[in-house]
Amino acid sequence: MYNIHCTIKHTEKESIDKNCKTTLINMKNIAVIGAGTMGNGIAHAFAQFGFQVALIDVSPEALAKALSTIEKNLDRQVKKEILTEEEKADALKRISTFKNMEHGVKNAELVIEASTENPQVKLSIFRDLDDFCEEGTILATNTSSISITKIASVTRRPDRVIGMHFMNPVPIMKLVEIIKGYSTSAQTCSIIMSLAERIQKTPVEVNDYPGFVSNRILMPMINEAIYTLYEGVAGVEEIDSVMKLGMAHPMGPLHLADFIGLDVCKAILDVLYQGFGNPKYAPCPLLVNMVTAGHLGVKTGQGFYEYQGKEMMVAERFRNIS
Ligand SMILES: NC(=O)c1ccc[n+]([C@@H]2O[C@H](COP(=O)([O-])OP(=O)(O)OC[C@H]3O[C@@H](n4cnc5c(N)ncnc54)[C@H](O)[C@@H]3O)[C@@H](O)[C@H]2O)c1
Repeated sequence: MYNIHCTIKHTEKESIDKNCKTTLINMKNIAVIGAGTMGNGIAHAFAQFGFQVALIDVSPEALAKALSTIEKNLDRQVKKEILTEEEKADALKRISTFKNMEHGVKNAELVIEASTENPQVKLSIFRDLDDFCEEGTILATNTSSISITKIASVTRRPDRVIGMHFMNPVPIMKLVEIIKGYSTSAQTCSIIMSLAERIQKTPVEVNDYPGFVSNRILMPMINEAIYTLYEGVAGVEEIDSVMKLGMAHPMGPLHLADFIGLDVCKAILDVLYQGFGNPKYAPCPLLVNMVTAGHLGVKTGQGFYEYQGKEMMVAERFRNIS
């Protein structure tokens, strides 16, 4: 009912208006802010398909680690015969790194922000980007949960701000959820949909409401799986097995929650709860306790499972529930 489609077909390659000089044909310089898990994957994907990429991070260590991760992931593509050695070397050459954001975004026709999921950090970055970037530059964010409309509102170009929600790991996952803020123009949406196709992704267009589509559906499922454990309906392995074997999910919801990070799951549920004012999204008390105790999943080695190197077993406190 509320799904307003872009009026310009995203395959139209020469759309241009008087304010926006960015077209699909001339776009070749991309800047990526944040060189963490998602930023390095986004930089990899664009460099692989011929774009010049400026990868920007406040942390020199993050930049060094990102380059080494990208090289390792490109190597994997060479082994699988997706790329040749020469194509791998060319992709790496297209990536430059910057600590200074103003220098890094100088020539960018598109900036994709993939910094820490913190509204203050993102709003401050977008205020600066609006000052540093050319008028026609499109500003995209990879946020998992923060309102695109809110981010756009701190710029003077809300029509050129959009969500590009890539999935982890970026070089492998096909989906990019394209989120239109309240003021995002049809032209911006059209350019970004086509651009995602140029890097062989499948863009899906959605509107800007809490959780967009992906997390609005995924997080309540994960929360319900945690409630199922909390209420003693079944144990960790049983819940994950039902969803893997019965619903053909590649990973059970509790394992997936550990992989995403329990703090991230809780933060997204909080956004849904506050955004809709509906108690059905309130994080399960067990999830709240685990986050408070610092049991955040894979990244801390403890969540619903315990992780030691490549080994994984049900966490001790959940072993006698079945
Ligand atoms: N990890 C996932 O599975 C996933 C999936 C989809 C979307 N996202 C979203 O992508 C974004 C990044 O997530 P991530 O997992 O890559 O985080 P991460 O913590 O791995 O990386 C964030 C990077 O941003 C850098 N950073 C922080 N403030 C900065 C600033 N002011 N300027 C430049 N760099 C800055 C940090 O140094 C860090 O290297 C978040 O918005 C997150 O919600 C994450």
